[in-house]
Formats: sequence, C-alpha cells, structure tokens
Amino acid sequence: MRMASVLVAYATKYGSTREVAEAIASALIERGVDAVARPAGEVKGLEGYSAVVLGTALYFFRWRREAHRFLSRNRSALESLPVAVFGLGPIEDTPEQFQAAREHLDKGLSKHKWLSPASVAVFGGRLDPAHLRFPDNNPAFRRMAPSDTRDWDAVRSWARGLIGALGVESEA
Ligand SMILES: Cc1cc2nc3c(=O)[nH]c(=O)nc-3n(C[C@H](O)[C@H](O)[C@H](O)COP(=O)(O)O)c2cc1C
Repeated sequence: MRMASVLVAYATKYGSTREVAEAIASALIERGVDAVARPAGEVKGLEGYSAVVLGTALYFFRWRREAHRFLSRNRSALESLPVAVFGLGPIEDTPEQFQAAREHLDKGLSKHKWLSPASVAVFGGRLDPAHLRFPDNNPAFRRMAPSDTRDWDAVRSWARGLIGALGVESEA
C-alpha cells in the first residue's frame, strides 16, 4: 500500500461525467484518500499522483477525444501507475443498452493495448434534450424524454473499491 493522491481525470461534453468524477473523488476523500477531479484535457503531468482514474462520456460508440489524448500524452507515467477507467452511458436503462455501453468503453480501451486497468465500469448517463448543441441536437435526440440512468450507489461503491483495486492507502 502507498500513501495516495488520486487523480480522477474526466472527459465530458455536457457535464454528467464531471459530476460522476467529482462523486468518485469525494467518496475517496471521505475514506481518507487524497483525491482531486480535473478535466483530462487540462492535466499537464502526473507528478505527485500515485493512481489515476479516467472517466469518459460515450458518444456515437466512442470515447471523448480528450480521454484518448490523455492516455497517449501520459503513457510513460501511466505505465507505472495503477489506473481505473469508467464510462458514462447509456441513456436508456436496459441491460442491453448497458452492455452496449460497456462494449463502447472496451472498444476505446482496445486502442491502448499497453494499458491494463485495475477496474473498469459504466454507470449510465444523462440526457437533457433541451440543452443539446449541434451536432447532437438533431430531431431524433431532441424528441427524447430527459433521462438520467446514472447509478450513484454503484458510483460510490466502485469508488470505495478503488482503494483496494488501486492499492492506495487511506489515512483513516
Ligand atoms: C448524441 C449522443 C450520442 C450518444 N451516444 C452514446 C453511445 O454511443 N453510447 C452510450 O453508451 N451512450 C451514448 N450517449 C449517452 C451519453 O454518453 C450520456 O448522455 C452521457 O451522460 C453524456 O456525458 P456528458 O454529460 O459528460 O457529456 C449519447 C448521448 C448523446 C446526446
């Protein structure tokens, strides 16, 4: 076990992935682990972090580009740090859609063969049709009802499990 400062980096478009990243950081802090949530695109380096959690929203079967770039840019540091990955999606609460979201997340992971995450999860997503911007604001999406399939209990439980999965030590 090592004293930890955990970076929870996130790639979001409309903010729901940021909210989950912040909930993960809060759950770790509650357990005595130093943690901070930051936009993946703004992270300049990983010095001082002993573990990394990366979260990305899923759009049209893909990760957000800044999540891929985060991994590529920080590859040499990440090769010697424990890493966990989560995805946001789907917007329909069915086992089939959750399975599909997991496949979208795994497809993105397969582009980084050097990475072996200690834990991977999808937590559902949020759709707010009134606030979609181009090119997401097409009629098919705008007609959909607002939804939020995020499973906050699963988020908090996963975050607590990260203490063991990432081998980080809490002060508690
Ligand atoms: C245009 C559009 C495309 C989406 N495509 C996918 C997808 O391919 N797979 C998936 O699981 N979720 C998909 N989603 C659901 C989003 O991942 C979900 O809304 C997520 O919470 C968005 O995260 P953000 O608020 O951090 O941007 C899509 C949502 C929209 C609006």
